[in-house]
Amino acid sequence: MEKKIALLGMGTVGSGVLNILKENKDLLLNSTDELLTITHILVSDLNKTRTVDLSGIQVTDNIEDIKNAEIDLVVEVMGGLQDTKTHLLYFLEQGIPVVSANKDMLAEYIDELEHTALNNKTTILYEGAVAGGIPIIHSLTHSLNANRISKVMGILNGTTNFMLTQMADKGLEYEDVLKIAQDMGYAEADPSADVLGLDAARKTLLLARLAFKKRFKMSDLDVIGIDKVDKIDIVHGKKANMTLKLLGVVEDKSSSYHLSVAPIFVDNTHQLSNVKNEKNAVFVEGNAIGQAMFYGPGAGSYETASAVVSDMINTFNLSSKKTILPEEFGEVDQSKEQSDYY
Ligand code: NDP
Ligand code: HSE
Repeated sequence: MEKKIALLGMGTVGSGVLNILKENKDLLLNSTDELLTITHILVSDLNKTRTVDLSGIQVTDNIEDIKNAEIDLVVEVMGGLQDTKTHLLYFLEQGIPVVSANKDMLAEYIDELEHTALNNKTTILYEGAVAGGIPIIHSLTHSLNANRISKVMGILNGTTNFMLTQMADKGLEYEDVLKIAQDMGYAEADPSADVLGLDAARKTLLLARLAFKKRFKMSDLDVIGIDKVDKIDIVHGKKANMTLKLLGVVEDKSSSYHLSVAPIFVDNTHQLSNVKNEKNAVFVEGNAIGQAMFYGPGAGSYETASAVVSDMINTFNLSSKKTILPEEFGEVDQSKEQSDYY
């Protein structure tokens, strides 16, 4: 069956979504019974030159066009806070599922959005909102749900990790590496959210909420960014075999919860010390699994869209309870099996 999808936003992540849907079409048809078709796209500037193929898609700058259309799923990758939340609430109230990668908005409104989704027998999924392509949301909600989680600790912001890495490895100055991070497209439009630790804090809140099943507010977090970090701090750390990392930490202290984001010296024997440049990593402690670490790209077009498209597939599979049947697994191509791996 065809599912009609509205894509709100067609920037870095939205283009990645369109590209994956096109390039992996056969694979996606194998993963879900639904043909995922983008029928509408919302942008702010209709005159902008686009590099993706938009034939057959209604591109609009008016959200009402989408509210008036027949849509099976809304994918929000445009950013924004209050207005965006209002739009998404509208769709959820109509029973239309939502996928979002908008961590700024989700950190403020996830409880309200999920409550509305539940009341209207629909879903809101947001794997792309935390640590880009790393499947940490699904892991906390599904794969690790047999665990009592005691701690989650992670490098959750690619911009600051890139900056700290470059300052340590190449001896570059703060201002210079910030400029490079912006040029590379890692930083937010306003990079103060990155360097002040707010972007990492929003992701940390979303992880804490899932790890401990509690409603947290941004004011529950102690947040220190890297804006006061000097190259000399990093040099001293190096001499002591330590690496400075901006870490989001949430911990169940039995009588209270500790939630923070701060630059912390990590011993060079710890795996997190080796997470370099724009990469992210999340370290989880649970009473059954012990310790587990998730590593990968924390940002980027295809990288984040990988998580967003997965949410799109899962939205429909959740409602249809689709599983891949044994007969749907193809035969192994023998010539592939005899590759020169060894
Ligand atoms: P971009 O700035 O690249 O793209 C935003 C898109 O949304 C653009 O197409 C823009 O239109 C459109 N848009 C923005 N505001 C409005 C509005 N008010 N009305 C209509 N259209 C609007 O952002 P990204 O793709 O980088 O990020 C999108 C979301 O994903 C954000 O919430 C971000 O925090 C999140 N995210 C981003 C990651 C990344 O690596 N970039 C990683 C994880 C999450 P137009 O094209 O006309 O300008
Ligand atoms: N500015 C963010 C970062 C983008 O650097 O991690 C991905 O959320």
